Amino acid sequence: MFMVENMKFEVWLQKVKGLCQPDNVVVCSGTPEEYDQMWDLLISSGAAKRLNEKKRPNSYLVRSDPNDVARVENRTFICSRKKSDAGPNNNWMSPHDMKMKLSNLFDGCMQGRTMYVIPFSMGPIGSEIAHIGVQITDSPYVVASMHIMTRVGKAVSDQLGDGDFVPCIHSVGQPLKKGEADVPWPCNPDQLYVAHFPEERQILSFGSGYGGNALLGKKCFALRIASSMAREGGWLAEHMLILKITNPEGIVRYIAGAFPSACGKTNLAMLIPTIPNWKVETVGDDICWMKFGKDGRLYAINPEAGFFGVAPGTSMQSNANAMLSLGKNCIFTNVAETDDGDIWWEGMTEEPPEHLIDWRGEHWTPNSGRAAAHPNARFTVSAIQCPVIAKEWEDRAGVPISAILFGGRRATVVPIVNEANTWNQGVFFGSIVSSEKTAAAAGTIGELRRDPMAMLPFCGYNMADYWQHWINLGKESNAQLPSVYYVNWFRKDDNGKFLWPGFGENSRILKWIFERCEGNAEITETPIGNLPMIEGIDFSGLELSDAEIDQLLRVETDGWLAEIPMIEAYYKTYLDRLPAELSEELDKLKNRLETAKQATA
Ligand code: GTP
Ligand code: SPV
Ligand code: MN
Repeated sequence: MFMVENMKFEVWLQKVKGLCQPDNVVVCSGTPEEYDQMWDLLISSGAAKRLNEKKRPNSYLVRSDPNDVARVENRTFICSRKKSDAGPNNNWMSPHDMKMKLSNLFDGCMQGRTMYVIPFSMGPIGSEIAHIGVQITDSPYVVASMHIMTRVGKAVSDQLGDGDFVPCIHSVGQPLKKGEADVPWPCNPDQLYVAHFPEERQILSFGSGYGGNALLGKKCFALRIASSMAREGGWLAEHMLILKITNPEGIVRYIAGAFPSACGKTNLAMLIPTIPNWKVETVGDDICWMKFGKDGRLYAINPEAGFFGVAPGTSMQSNANAMLSLGKNCIFTNVAETDDGDIWWEGMTEEPPEHLIDWRGEHWTPNSGRAAAHPNARFTVSAIQCPVIAKEWEDRAGVPISAILFGGRRATVVPIVNEANTWNQGVFFGSIVSSEKTAAAAGTIGELRRDPMAMLPFCGYNMADYWQHWINLGKESNAQLPSVYYVNWFRKDDNGKFLWPGFGENSRILKWIFERCEGNAEITETPIGNLPMIEGIDFSGLELSDAEIDQLLRVETDGWLAEIPMIEAYYKTYLDRLPAELSEELDKLKNRLETAKQATA
């Protein structure tokens, strides 16, 4: 058996084994053979199917239980000692109560199953910005996914040595009695808990096998626990894509961007510019860890090794680089299956196939009146398969960030791009981002909610303290901070159609941001921030009327004034923890808007 020589690891492993009572324990080696073994198991249990080898080599289709299809935010908990440290942004239970509850649930939960132990690195092994975790799980699907999404194997265990790691325990929560037959996708949605203990840096997850509930390196570690580590250590763990952009003269800048779940990070990270001779390459598509370099700049790494991307809507038109990443060695979860053993989802082609097996395993035709793929169906693929992965994506030192984007889905009010004048105004922009809810989490789709810095479901502590942490970074003596932009690709016209074509066309906005960073673009100062001059953005070749361009770049004084009391009410929920700098920014915004309104009255 593969060995890890680490005392904390040994003691912990024996404890968890005693509690969960698995039939076997396997310490994962991260080898291709181990990956293949997981698929043998998943195929024989009926969870997975190998796709047509000629069309999609070494790739698998997995169907989850229909009750286990997305992150479940109302079952996700931050178990800090004090409730106020979790904040109104999190569900809270005391560490004691949660552990009581979970030790009952975990007791014997792996009977009849194998317990896999996965040492993994979030970030390039050996990077000062990277961190190590060990996930215990009874799901072969999780093992296979972790192989792609993180770095697993001997190099990690060597790096671990006798050092520290974040312990992550996961069970699908469905033990098997002797002789009892397994179901294809075991889970226990009625007893679901995704619990984080930020003070002791530990994760316990029970009852789900899907995505962010179960791949504990991703949202649980790399965002919730890491955000709390980052606060202590003076760095940032963010729900951000990282892209590399090269202008026609060959000058390179790196940009990070926070957008809520299913709001365009993967698409932006892989975009193909529609403006000639500009190049965009991918460093990361979902998570970004940033630490200060000696020069005072923020250096970013992508802590992940793969993409767990939203499938529906992905096509050669919208995101060719994602499509081209998916030719082989992929996992597809909850997509539809074609008659020739390949995959399909809504938006992949203009015309749907005449017949499919849908994500639930049922026959489907275009007349079925329902989606063939689940709206949160996802692909899992190694980052190295992306045709535009940047050569420096695994640089241990990270890449220096020039600009940070914040955005969400806003049909109204918010213009296409707005630059912050100061770091504090940038933090203010991030704090007020609101977005329509998507299928990435269980709940009501389309509902508008505040999702500050796209971290509402992922901040491992009180959001007000998190804002203060952002503000404090701006006070570091030699900090050379990125400039901050609030962007909105999702503005709609009166008929409910997107005003802005988005996707590759977003390069026009990136170009303006790039030129601002280089000091080569003008702005107009407005009450809400710095907007581009109309001639500063290349709208050529787009089918946009002057009125539409005006709408994309307009300051909607009344719309913003109507937002003010909503922001005030929102800020009030954070009581006296709200940074004074943010209420000052809000007051200043209000004053500027009122002055502007009077001037036009
Ligand atoms: P998570 O993986 O959940 O964190 O999502 P993400 O932020 O990476 O979102 P992704 O890029 O996968 O996009 C999700 C959805 O938004 C897809 O259906 C896309 O088609 C759509 N989308 C992405 N970019 C744009 C855009 O510029 N304009 C419009 N209208 N839709 C977009
Ligand atoms: C998200 O919801 O933001 C995701 C997918 O990236 S999951 O890993 O399920 O959280
Ligand atoms: Mn995400």
